[in-house]
Amino acid sequence: MTADRPDSHRLLSAESGGPLLSWYDREKRDLPWRHTSDPYAIWVSEIMLQQTQVSTVIPYWNRWMQRFPTVRSLAEADEQEILAHWQGLGYYRRCRLLQQGARFVVEHGLPTRMSEWLKVPGVGRYTAGAIASIALSEPVPLVDGNVERVYARLAGDDAAGKVLHDAAWKWAELNVYSERPGDWNQALMELGATVCRPNSPNCRECPLSGQCVALSASRVEELPAKVAKTKAVQLRHLVCVPLCGDEVGLRQIPAGQWWEGMWEFPRFEVAPGAESADLQQLVGTGWLESAGAFRHSVTHHRIQVEVSYLSFEEKLDSLRWVRLSDLPEVPMPAPQRKALSMVLEQMGRT
Ligand code: ADE
Repeated sequence: MTADRPDSHRLLSAESGGPLLSWYDREKRDLPWRHTSDPYAIWVSEIMLQQTQVSTVIPYWNRWMQRFPTVRSLAEADEQEILAHWQGLGYYRRCRLLQQGARFVVEHGLPTRMSEWLKVPGVGRYTAGAIASIALSEPVPLVDGNVERVYARLAGDDAAGKVLHDAAWKWAELNVYSERPGDWNQALMELGATVCRPNSPNCRECPLSGQCVALSASRVEELPAKVAKTKAVQLRHLVCVPLCGDEVGLRQIPAGQWWEGMWEFPRFEVAPGAESADLQQLVGTGWLESAGAFRHSVTHHRIQVEVSYLSFEEKLDSLRWVRLSDLPEVPMPAPQRKALSMVLEQMGRT
């Protein structure tokens, strides 16, 4: 019954920008990337904002733009340095793809339209729509999780997953306001992030409440419909911090693993309750002490990280030894830094 789908309805008075743009002009957050129309700067912000909160991204974006102010400076940068600037943001694949994209742009020229941005490695439909509309004023739509939720509620669409996503794109395409497409798209995302929130939405502040099907049917919190979640996988990692004087021993994470190319303390994945023969081998004649445990999540994996440290009289050749004071320059996954701070705290060295 596709004829009944609400996605074909024009829901907003997009001809004038209407109440949504007036609300945005009044209420929008002052974010550093809203003071530029440089497509590269917008591109960086949009990649960083994928799966990461605005408040976390702000200092990363500021540091990044200081160190890599142009596409060329990013294209020519050393991978270890870009990873070091990204560390803590997670999803490091985004960072590598951003650099691949920068190299592509240096070679082929800066795209001027959404359709050209889509050819850049790491730039999908959402990012291409964001750069083209915000930086280049091209009247193209975009859909992220926020826009999808705003659409589902406004239209009262019960769909979930890909069906909802496709319907939201059609709706966004139909409604994009061509006078100020970048502000229009950001207004929709802003509304989703600050008013039409997943939990406890603030419908009294919503400039579109008069047109909201979910609100009139008292179904706001029911929508969008939930998709069944992938079951969490439980893992156990033993992290062992090798110490020798004021240096720690690291190894590089091999290709094909989470965090590839970054550096870590020896880490062993073991079954619940099991010992690790590899850890025993590393211990050798060293002295192993436990420093506690914490939980860490990566996608749908829940990892129990058990931390220990190992004191050596002499440095092992198989590891790279780095002074504690030099560690901030080395790209390391966030849970590894947490493991180190637990060890230093236990040793009274913080
Ligand atoms: N989320 C991702 N990019 C955004 C933007 N430019 N404005 C508001 N929310 C966003």
